[in-house]
This record gives sequence, C-alpha cells and structure tokens, in this order.
Amino acid sequence: MTFIYKLGERITRHSMALLTAIVILVSIGGIVEIAPLFLIENTIEKVEGMRPYTPLELAGRNIYIREGCYACHSQQIRPLRDEVERYGHFSLAAESMYDHPFQWGSKRTGPDLARVGGKYSDEWHVLHMKDPRSVVPESVMPGYAFLADTVLDARGIADDLRANRAVGVPYTDEMIEKAAADLRLQASPDGDASDLQSRYPGANVRDFDGNPKAVTEMDALVAYLQMLGTLVDFPSIRHDDDFNR
Ligand code: HEC
Repeated sequence: MTFIYKLGERITRHSMALLTAIVILVSIGGIVEIAPLFLIENTIEKVEGMRPYTPLELAGRNIYIREGCYACHSQQIRPLRDEVERYGHFSLAAESMYDHPFQWGSKRTGPDLARVGGKYSDEWHVLHMKDPRSVVPESVMPGYAFLADTVLDARGIADDLRANRAVGVPYTDEMIEKAAADLRLQASPDGDASDLQSRYPGANVRDFDGNPKAVTEMDALVAYLQMLGTLVDFPSIRHDDDFNR
C-alpha cells in the first residue's frame, strides 16, 4: 500500500509524470469504449421495410433542409412515455440510416415530424404550408405559399442519388438512370406506377399538391412529409410491448 501511496505522491508532484499518467488512463478508457464499435459488424439494428428515398421524396427532403424546417422541428421521438403517447413509437436508429445528413434536430418550436406521414391529408398539408393559420389559428409557423408556385428543378436529381450512393445509400444503377422519370411519375395522378413501386416499395404515387399540370416544390415536400415514419411496420417490432403495457 505504501508503495502505491508513494508512487501517487511522486506522480502528482511532477507535472510531466502526471500528464503521462493521465494520457495513459484516458487512452485505456477510450479504447474500451471505441474498440467494440469496430469489432461488431453493424451498430444499427436491421429492421424490415426501410428503403432509400424515392427521387421525389429526396427532392422534398432537400427543400425541407433548404427552408430550415429543422430549426423548429425535430425528427426523433425519444423513448419516454409522454413522447410515445403523443407521436407514436420511438424512433429507431435504422429509420435515419439513409439520411445524409440526419434530421434529428435540436429544437421543437413545432411538433416532432418523425411520424407525421399519413397523419393528415395532402390537402391539409398544402393549406397548412401555404398559410398555417388557416388550419391552426394559433400557429406561429411561417407560410411557404411560394412552394406551390415553384416548378421543381429536378435537373440534378440523378447526381443527388449518386452522391447519396457514395456515402452508402444502396441506390442501384437502374434507380439512378430512371431518377428523373421516377420523380415525375410519382407526382402524376394516372401514370403506371408498378415499376416505380417495385424499386421503392410502399411509395405513394399521386398528385400531392392538387395541381396535376406541374410537378412543384410543394409536390416534393408533401411527398416527403407523407412518408415520414411510415416505412417500418411497428406492430411486428418486439419493443412495442415495453410501452403498451
Ligand atoms: C418558426 C418555427 C417553424 C418553422 C421554421 C417551421 N415550422 Fe412547422 N410548425 C411550427 C409550429 C409552431 C407548428 C405547430 C402549429 C401548426 O400546426 O402550425 C408547426 C407544425 C407543423 C406541421 C404539423 C405537425 C403536426 O403533427 O401537427 C408540419 C407538417 C410542419 N410544421 C412542417 C413544416 C415544414 C415542412 C417546414 C419547413 C418548410 C416548417 N414546418 C417550418 C413551427 C415552425
């Protein structure tokens, strides 16, 4: 005991020795935390149903980022009872696996949007985006009416898919080749969508903004909002029981 006591006393009296000891200790702590992450194959639990965004949804997501919606909205439901009761099943890591960058957000001036898909009709979203106070009188959200008047600039969509593929999203050559056509098809009311839906299972195909003549930024944003949180089929996931007791 006295040996350790003396060693300790010596180290604390010599700043270089103390520094070296601190560096050694912190490295051990770091290795213990970080090394397992390299050794296990995947840190994200795989779930059924996740697929990459369709080109139209991806374009909508770009508008979401461009307009700074994340400054007021999170997309991350925490595993706390009040959040789960209000927003639905807590978010899984896998649900953001194709998000580059992720949209978890850090502030909720408005509600969490991780599961807003299917909660309202397309008409509601269009009215709300154009003038939030027309449907929620007390809302402090700004209006984005110009989205409905702006034709979606989709010239870069194939490159966008390519860029996502470069960081790990499994877009195939076929998806990239057909990106521009898929984007238009998803927003058209009467196209044959079976081909698109085989590439992107569960994709909503319809005219989202109520204006079948043009594919607008509103089409893209509503397509994105309407799919948020809808890909994973939750009753089949075992964690459910933890919260529904
Ligand atoms: C200044 C903060 C602010 C910004 C920026 C903002 N919102 Fe909101 N949002 C709110 C507030 C507050 C509400 C709740 C009242 C309401 O429904 O309008 C809301 C509600 C919503 C809802 C309804 C959610 C629900 O579950 O009822 C959606 C969808 C939505 N916002 C989408 C967006 C999108 C898309 C953008 C970006 C184009 C955006 N918001 C930008 C504050 C904001």
